[in-house]
Amino acid sequence: MKEITVNGITLAVHDEGTGPPILFVHGFPLSHSMWQPQVFTFAGDHRVIVPDLRGFGESDVTEGTVTMEQHADDLLALLDELNVNEPVVLCGLSMGGYIAWQFQQKYADRLRALILCDTRAIADTPEGAENRQRLAKMVIENGSAAVASAMLPNLFSPATGDRDQSVIDELRQTIAATSPQGIAAASLGMAERPDVTPLLSSIETPTLLIVGEDDGISTPEEMKTIADAMPNARLEVIPKAGHMSPLENPKSVNAAIHGFLQSFTS
Ligand code: MLT
Repeated sequence: MKEITVNGITLAVHDEGTGPPILFVHGFPLSHSMWQPQVFTFAGDHRVIVPDLRGFGESDVTEGTVTMEQHADDLLALLDELNVNEPVVLCGLSMGGYIAWQFQQKYADRLRALILCDTRAIADTPEGAENRQRLAKMVIENGSAAVASAMLPNLFSPATGDRDQSVIDELRQTIAATSPQGIAAASLGMAERPDVTPLLSSIETPTLLIVGEDDGISTPEEMKTIADAMPNARLEVIPKAGHMSPLENPKSVNAAIHGFLQSFTS
């Protein structure tokens, strides 16, 4: 991992390979490690840039509220520090998708394409935002392992537990090792995120949307409405996967990403 200073903090980033750049942005409350199956597959002929976001993994933590826009600004500064001048394919999962919307709004000229996995365009309902505030308080009081126990049942397809419990165990360890302050700050930031639904029809960036067939957080139905609203997007539904589709069924997700990359590079 490299350590890169951006916007007054240090971010840890895995930077491997050469070729067209792909920036992988993890979900909440995870780290760069969730993209391991994609790094393994795509680093052979791409430059894969896989940061730990502010507050996660080995990156610095800032307290308070960290907005999705702040994360997008960090990513832009990171690309600049790494001298990545050509437009990137930005691949984000869930919270990584919320950040991708902000990146697209502010820095569209730095984007070659978007890959949005298991994410949403709408803002939180008032009730959803209250739950985020509760979680932010709870993680400071009870620690990150409690967040892992609360979240894990909703993240995976039943098929994943039947096939390979170790994927779930590893994610539990990642969450338990995450800073409570980092989790709280991102949770409060997600509660503030805007509804981007009105913007979807104006996003010309080529976009691949990916969703696990059993995702109960960002459902296939909801992601279809996003695909239908965007002029240059298509949706792939991944079998035997839930909200963590790139980890649960990497073979199908990587095939979808590969086909998408081919569609505009060949
Ligand atoms: C994630 O996977 O990043 C979270 O499910 C996002 C969220 O809580 O909305």
